Amino acid sequence: MQYYHIKKKFKTAWQKKILRWYSKNKRNLPWRQKKNQHFYNIWISEIMLQQTTVKTVIPYYNKFIEKWPNLETFFEASLDEILIIWQGMGYYQRAKNLYLAKEILKKKKIKLNLEELKKLPGIGDYVSSAICAILFDQNCAVIDSNIKKIVTRTFNLEKNKPNLEKNIKNIATELTPLRNNGSYCQALMDLANLVCTNKKPNCLACPVKNECKYEGNTELKTEKKLVKKKIGITYYIKFKDSVLLQRSGDRMLENLYCFPMTSFIDNNNELDEKKLLKQIGNNWQKINSITYKHVFSKFIKHTFSHFHLKLFIIEIKLNSKKEFANYEWVLTEDIVNKPSSVLMKKIQGEVFC
Ligand code: ADE
Repeated sequence: MQYYHIKKKFKTAWQKKILRWYSKNKRNLPWRQKKNQHFYNIWISEIMLQQTTVKTVIPYYNKFIEKWPNLETFFEASLDEILIIWQGMGYYQRAKNLYLAKEILKKKKIKLNLEELKKLPGIGDYVSSAICAILFDQNCAVIDSNIKKIVTRTFNLEKNKPNLEKNIKNIATELTPLRNNGSYCQALMDLANLVCTNKKPNCLACPVKNECKYEGNTELKTEKKLVKKKIGITYYIKFKDSVLLQRSGDRMLENLYCFPMTSFIDNNNELDEKKLLKQIGNNWQKINSITYKHVFSKFIKHTFSHFHLKLFIIEIKLNSKKEFANYEWVLTEDIVNKPSSVLMKKIQGEVFC
């Protein structure tokens, strides 16, 4: 590993320029308001911001805080209520972890420091240091993708080198100011989004252009991965006014309600679609002791973070009620009260129209 010793003069100029730029260009975001400088608000916002953009997070954050304005009110939230607010934002494990963490906090007061925070579900290095920096100005390095991009460009670090992550951490730590780290880390986030953008960074507007070695050749383009294509079947099974729903523990749509589904299987060349569908369909029907002719006419398309799904919908109307292991009968009018995913809403749009 290369050890980057950064000269004091460089550090001082860097920190000063970044902080001065922030005082003029800071984004006005709800979790940055003075009244929101509490552990609870920073925690919720940082969890949301981990995998979702600022623009998308804002309405979710506002809705969340409106429903549960502080930690004490949040203590009373059920997992389903949290999931309902989270609907559409994705990465639902975050919502489950918030629930688990608040259950711990309800029982036991913890010290708000790096180590204690990291013991809570869903809080890792990044979130704990962001909370400590923003709330207490603690000088811990806050390293997210924004900061990684700025450091990589400034020091012209080569991608795909084995020690890249370690070097970034080392430099980011060296550059972290002893004071005002809360503003400093948020300044870097704003700089990364407003100036040092992924595509076409506006280097002329950058406060640290003189310190930066970026020549446009360390583009953080991730090599385009071949996006997988998968297929599957979902069953819209009705008996009178009830529909069969699934609440599965260990799938991608964890803890959300959805219609019963087969597993999703790779179909990158789209050649044997019918054959594959029959196979997985028959398999699912066998497990669930039901036989029904597969007519594959309706389907929806949905993109997950790492694959495209073509999901076929089979509608089945039962004449007598049958109990299915691991599934629940739910009145159609009650579906809206169940936490569900965007995928589930798309299926509903298709079957209810
Ligand atoms: N991304 C992650 N945390 C953020 C914050 N506090 N402000 C803006 N963008 C962020």
